[in-house]
Amino acid sequence: MNSCLKLLIVSVLLLAMYACSTPEEPSVSVVEPIAFKSHSDSVPKHHGKLFEINCAYPKELPHSVFKLSEAFQSPLNKDNAAAYIQELKQHVTPALEKFILDNANWNAKKEGWFHEPWIGDTRDPILGCYNGNNNQKGTFKNVNENQLGYVLVLYDSLAAFTLGEIFGTDGMVPLTKDRKVDLEKEKGQFKEGAVILKLAFSNVNQDKWSDMEGAREFQIYNNNPSDTVYKYHTVSLFQIDMIVKDSKNSPTTGWMFSTLVYDKSVKSKNILDKFVPLGGMWGNDPEVNTAVSEVYYDQNPLLQETWINNSAPYYSRETLGWGGRLSGPNDGAVALNGIVNGKTYERLQMTSCMSCHLPAQQKFASFLLPAKDITKNIFYSNNDPEWKRYFRDLKGTESFDPGEYSFDYDMAIAFKSMKAYLQYLDSTATQNKQRYMTTDKQDNYKLFEEYRKIKE
Ligand code: HEC
Repeated sequence: MNSCLKLLIVSVLLLAMYACSTPEEPSVSVVEPIAFKSHSDSVPKHHGKLFEINCAYPKELPHSVFKLSEAFQSPLNKDNAAAYIQELKQHVTPALEKFILDNANWNAKKEGWFHEPWIGDTRDPILGCYNGNNNQKGTFKNVNENQLGYVLVLYDSLAAFTLGEIFGTDGMVPLTKDRKVDLEKEKGQFKEGAVILKLAFSNVNQDKWSDMEGAREFQIYNNNPSDTVYKYHTVSLFQIDMIVKDSKNSPTTGWMFSTLVYDKSVKSKNILDKFVPLGGMWGNDPEVNTAVSEVYYDQNPLLQETWINNSAPYYSRETLGWGGRLSGPNDGAVALNGIVNGKTYERLQMTSCMSCHLPAQQKFASFLLPAKDITKNIFYSNNDPEWKRYFRDLKGTESFDPGEYSFDYDMAIAFKSMKAYLQYLDSTATQNKQRYMTTDKQDNYKLFEEYRKIKE
């Protein structure tokens, strides 16, 4: 027998053996490359390492998770929030240092961090970030132009376990006929100790924004909304969000939301020393009702569930949320010339970290902001029950709207991944099949994307 024939027979045998040994295995799904695609198809010609997504979510609960020191006195309050944030920062420092200082060798998979699926087309090919919130000119005193924000979300292995529970191994979230998530409630909930980070980058750098002096710059290759072609952009890392599922220390909501901001005034060679806490929040302070005419740049003493670091750089405190609740410079909590009851407010503080994350649910029945007509920049009054809905303290299991599937405050899943997934289902649905429209009422996904775009 000649060797070619031998090889052919061996190959056929091997193939048959493989087929027989794995009768239950589904054939390689065609959707997999889209669900877990790393980045957009436009890649620079002469490039180094490209961004690699990590969606190999763990199927077992990992052993090492974030734990506070014994010294920490539960529960969270304004006196111990800074210490909490410091411990959390220490916990994530090795990963952040590697990301910031040795980005060329950073590989999420190797470091044990994971990404949300389905949005590869929107990720830049170098850092893997995508355009998030943009700030109109006038948001910051020291910025004289529109500013674009880019974000990269990182889930630790415990948080990624929940991504696996929702998206499985192929990204296909089970849905009912009426397009609701068909999973047990618990599967959409994060486990105690789960940590999620969001790194935010600004396209306005130190040459045009003095607060960014000395900030770490990165190259991305992206399509800014105003670009006609893909090109390199320099961006500065200026905000690092850190959130933890912690029902012991935050019993009413189950979460601690905190954020670090770049502070050029810190004299240190260590880049992470220059990221100082802007604050933390573990609830929305539903009882504290202040007039929207009052604009807060410091700790509002009435608040019990937000701690603000009054010595964080001024630019980061220009964008606090309603009544001084926590929100960061990348988060869009201030509506410039927002309208309430027919009156225009130059700086309307109208949301907060946890308020905006509260409607993280499927089918996204409520908008993210307490807006009456977002296309006209009109908001509810702070005395309106509609507004107050956005400042409730809910547990992750309690959906914002009755009967919805809750994603436990996770907006990257609710707003980004689910949206892209439903769009994919829409695009592949044939005429005879039911279309997976996003919501029956209005397309809140589209409205929010439009709202976040820069209006020239
Ligand atoms: C106006 C709405 C809004 C505000 C305010 C807001 N976020 Fe978010 N957040 C989002 C959206 C939307 C996403 C999904 C990514 C994107 O499109 O930017 C997100 C993503 C995140 C993520 C990734 C994981 C997840 O839960 O989605 C973290 C962590 C996060 N935000 C933390 C914070 C923190 C901390 C603050 C306050 C300092 C904050 N956010 C304020 C809307 C908001």
